[in-house]
Amino acid sequence: MIATICLQEQVINRNGEDDNTLAIMNKYKWISKEIIFETKDTLTIVFDTKDSPFTYKPGQFINITCTINGKEVSRSYSLSSSPEDKYPSITVKKVAGGIMSNYLWEQAPGLSEWAVEGPFGNFVRDTDLKKETPLIFLGGGSGITPLFSLLKEAVREAMHPPVLLYANKAPDNIIFKEPLAHMDAAEQLHAFYAFSEGDKPSDDKNCIWGRFNTLSIKSILKRHCSNLEEAHCYICGPKELMTLYKDAVLSMGLRPDQVHLEDFQVAITDPSVLDLPDESFEVLINYYDSMVKEDAEQVYEITTLIPVAPRQNLLNAAKAHRIRVPHSCESGTCGSCWARHTKGTVKMVNNFALTKEQVADSMILLCQSYALDDQVTIELD
Ligand code: FES
Repeated sequence: MIATICLQEQVINRNGEDDNTLAIMNKYKWISKEIIFETKDTLTIVFDTKDSPFTYKPGQFINITCTINGKEVSRSYSLSSSPEDKYPSITVKKVAGGIMSNYLWEQAPGLSEWAVEGPFGNFVRDTDLKKETPLIFLGGGSGITPLFSLLKEAVREAMHPPVLLYANKAPDNIIFKEPLAHMDAAEQLHAFYAFSEGDKPSDDKNCIWGRFNTLSIKSILKRHCSNLEEAHCYICGPKELMTLYKDAVLSMGLRPDQVHLEDFQVAITDPSVLDLPDESFEVLINYYDSMVKEDAEQVYEITTLIPVAPRQNLLNAAKAHRIRVPHSCESGTCGSCWARHTKGTVKMVNNFALTKEQVADSMILLCQSYALDDQVTIELD
């Protein structure tokens, strides 16, 4: 066993970090601007960024951290706003047993300050898509949230009205009902709904009373999406519905690279099945830690060489050496374990959180990254 060597320890003063310092770390302290009750179990939190710039792409998400019963809890929420909107917003549906969603439902109207990290997520429109590329949005329940952000961008920029298929239990469960109806009425969008429960209220030809199935999905897309073979599809919702949508569009001849899925429930990969060397390596980690001294918090910058066992990801290696790294999902989706990789070779096996640009900027997800040599150097912000 190789001992941890503390190569360098230096006290730096980061007390009272200002908004600019936090922004460099992708962290923000925002205040509430408005709470909008969308349905009987869904609300939108609109944030005021206090004029600090926040750059994101439609379809991305942020992590919100709240202290609930004395414990810090973090969750990822898709942005329902799009960058053209004046204020960023998230939309949260109350989930049975959901610690954070129930807390937000009850407490959000009284909360004034928010700890935010992000943006993360690569469920975004490809930058090389042409304006004439047909766009299809397939959603269910609160899965409409990132789709709504992407839809607003598509309505503004795409040459053809996008097609939306949106499944819910009943009409009252439709989130963003009014803006969607408005876009539809203005012929900026072809919207189709399926309702699995309740009484049939109207003969609206754009509503299916029951669930979408392969036949109805294909029939709607064939009729309303011109140049279907060139379309790109964005899918978000309950797992089974996402599979139904995905299989339907693939069976219509779309290639897998034309089908984009936002899935917050990705299974954790077993490292024994990965193609990785069966070797131990040493990794240099640069990070910050803090302690309270004479009633003041002092922050230390520390550089440490840690051993990494064969097939051990960098998050687990850091945790084994009591280095505190924010983390949540451990499946590559939440983005909270991101770090900068400045030297050596690292293999990142899954990434559902970082954009191409962030990866090009040397960002990695520690829970998904493995050292491939002894030169690896990591910086935690
Ligand atoms: S812990 Fe969520 S991406 Fe690593």
